[in-house]
Amino acid sequence: MKLTVSDFIARKGQTPITMLTAYTTPVAKCLENAGIEIILVGDSLGMVEMGFESTQDVTMEHMEYHIGAVRRGAPNTHIIGDMPYKSTQTVEMSIQNAKRLIAAGADSVKIEGPECANIQGIVNAGIAVVGHTGLTPQTAKNFKQVGNSEQDIIRLKQDTQDICNAGVFMLVIEHTQPTLASQLSKSISIPTIGIGAGNECDGQVLVINDAAGLGDYWPPFTKQYAQVSQTFVDVAKQFKQDVETKQFP
Ligand code: KIV
Ligand code: NA
Repeated sequence: MKLTVSDFIARKGQTPITMLTAYTTPVAKCLENAGIEIILVGDSLGMVEMGFESTQDVTMEHMEYHIGAVRRGAPNTHIIGDMPYKSTQTVEMSIQNAKRLIAAGADSVKIEGPECANIQGIVNAGIAVVGHTGLTPQTAKNFKQVGNSEQDIIRLKQDTQDICNAGVFMLVIEHTQPTLASQLSKSISIPTIGIGAGNECDGQVLVINDAAGLGDYWPPFTKQYAQVSQTFVDVAKQFKQDVETKQFP
């Protein structure tokens, strides 16, 4: 059963919310079958599935294509679609692009950073928005943990208040110092979803490729529950051997 915005808000401080990313139909189907409560079609897509160096290369068209694929695999799961880099340059543009992601199959959209006027515009247009603070990869200079300096802490506390006041129903906190993530989480009334931000948020998200061991680099704060790349290598090697020795077909 697809959970609603008010279901998620009611989960604040309750059993942690589980979110994973997906980009394709078969993976989305697996996550729905496993009972994962939210699927994020993240712009991490560009790096983990498309071979780009950064999420800045992801376009609206890429997001629409993958959101459609995920929706067809997971018809009964709440799907968040990431607003890609440069898709929110004006309030009007933000609203139009949010509408495109919803038309592609998303239930809500996620925006990085304190883009409060854009968030407010989209919310006023009737679309639910998820915020994203801490490390924000679209504009970050590196992928180091944030929230260690006094200046950072003051800024992230202010950003969190501003993003919440703009009307988001959920906030992703990425790769911050865990004590800060906990403080940010306790300071607001909507659920927080952490990634590399300790275990005191109201839920956790991982990039599915990191969780499945698919790819060749996984951030240190992630956990590999399988070794899918190694499984693919084994499949290909066994197929090669079977064909060459005429054991298959
Ligand atoms: O793009 C993404 O996968 C994300 C998560 C890491 C939160 O934004
Ligand atoms: Na993202």
